[in-house]
Amino acid sequence: MPLVTIVGGQWGDEGKGKIVDMLAQKADVVARFAGGANAGHTVINPLGTFKMHLIPSGIFYPNVVCVMGNGMAIDPKKTIEEISFLREKHINVDNRLFISDKAHLIMPYHFILDKLEEERRGGDLIGTTCKGIGPAYVDKVARRGIRAGDLLNRRNLLSKLRPVVDYKNELFTKLYDAASISVDEIYEQCCHYSEILAPFIKETSSLLQEAQERGALIILEGAQGTLLDIDFGTYPYVTSSSPTAWGACSGLGISPMKIDRILGIFKAYTTRVGKGPMPTELNDEVGEAIREKGHEYGTTTGRPRRCGWFDSVAGRFSVHLNGITDVAFTRLDVLDLMPHIKICTGYNLDGKVINQFPCDINEQERCTPILEEMDGWQTCTNDVRHFDNLPPAAKAYVKRIEELIDCPISVISVGAKREQSIEIRPIL
Ligand code: GDP
Ligand code: IMO
Ligand code: MG
Repeated sequence: MPLVTIVGGQWGDEGKGKIVDMLAQKADVVARFAGGANAGHTVINPLGTFKMHLIPSGIFYPNVVCVMGNGMAIDPKKTIEEISFLREKHINVDNRLFISDKAHLIMPYHFILDKLEEERRGGDLIGTTCKGIGPAYVDKVARRGIRAGDLLNRRNLLSKLRPVVDYKNELFTKLYDAASISVDEIYEQCCHYSEILAPFIKETSSLLQEAQERGALIILEGAQGTLLDIDFGTYPYVTSSSPTAWGACSGLGISPMKIDRILGIFKAYTTRVGKGPMPTELNDEVGEAIREKGHEYGTTTGRPRRCGWFDSVAGRFSVHLNGITDVAFTRLDVLDLMPHIKICTGYNLDGKVINQFPCDINEQERCTPILEEMDGWQTCTNDVRHFDNLPPAAKAYVKRIEELIDCPISVISVGAKREQSIEIRPIL
């Protein structure tokens, strides 16, 4: 029975939520493995429009078990809000939503630090989502994190929190000249979180192992995108986790040997929010047209997304790095009205043509795209459900991207709704 990992192939917001929701109708388990409420996964289905930040996008199918993995950095307050919101919509989460006891929690001081650190960077900011993600992963690695499992043992929790809050207060008052925070208040909040979240918290890697042994169909839902990976992304303009295929293994406690397929989600063009290199960015009316037609504004922060042509150099890098076996190519319909569509096939770096994604940030910033132009199709594709029924120019575009990124496109998405999809090769 297949175990499929879903990863963002670009800089996030590729449409992972839509594709997970579409595939989850056949799944038994959907498990998220990285990031926290920096993610915003949009799901539009017969139940409504949902912007999920933490709870996996498989939650809309009553028989699907959803897991929030140990690799996540979880904001407990936001999790409670998402649970309440789903309950209001009559979506049951009891006995089918589980939070790893090893997942790290975002604490109030992480939000404060995220903001203070960005301010301290001055003009050189990263453009984080200010959801406390970086500071929470710092504490995880520094071995002073508070984990979901700590909410189950309140007495130990207070003794764990006290030295951490003392340390943060030293930072706030001595380094940042900011107000200190009260450990008692944070402890009180945690007790409240504990009351609501305790039934959801458990050891989840064994749950996943047992599901595999039963032959369950499992989807591992990534957040962010490969080019935001802490190691291989456009460092330092990255997130603080591994949104890549290997992040799924460490972020859920699954052996790499168990993964059958890796589905990379790519938009038919490129977007990015926050700062950092983006060689195909269009600071002109074409970029503006893509943003308006595609409603390219952040799901989490509402910031306008930077838009540009599809970058096949970055795409191929992402395919090879993750070992992507299949691609879901989303938002093809956003290009419907374009008379001409360009694809970046290489970079010009200091007068030399290169077709490898450079590792060095300074080189990435100096790259200018080499663009190949193709005819647009200027026909609405929203209602197309079979590859053969796409306009010839759209088929040619898809085929050219497959060739350039060296991976078959198995799914094409032509609209935000669940059914606006073309499944060329079944994924599950
Ligand atoms: P995610 O973070 O990867 O889940 O992506 P987001 O939800 O942040 O952003 C993707 C946006 O594109 C959402 O508004 C989706 O509803 C929308 N979307 C997904 N697939 C398609 C598609 O094929 N066409 C169009 N027009 N919109 C899409
Ligand atoms: P989904 O799952 C797009 C970006 C931020 C910023 C950088 C670091 O919806 O695709 P962070 O708050 O993580 O420390 O910010 O990473 N970023 C995302 N961009 N989609 C996301 O998630 C993102 N999660 C983080 O904009 O540039
Ligand atoms: Mg998003």
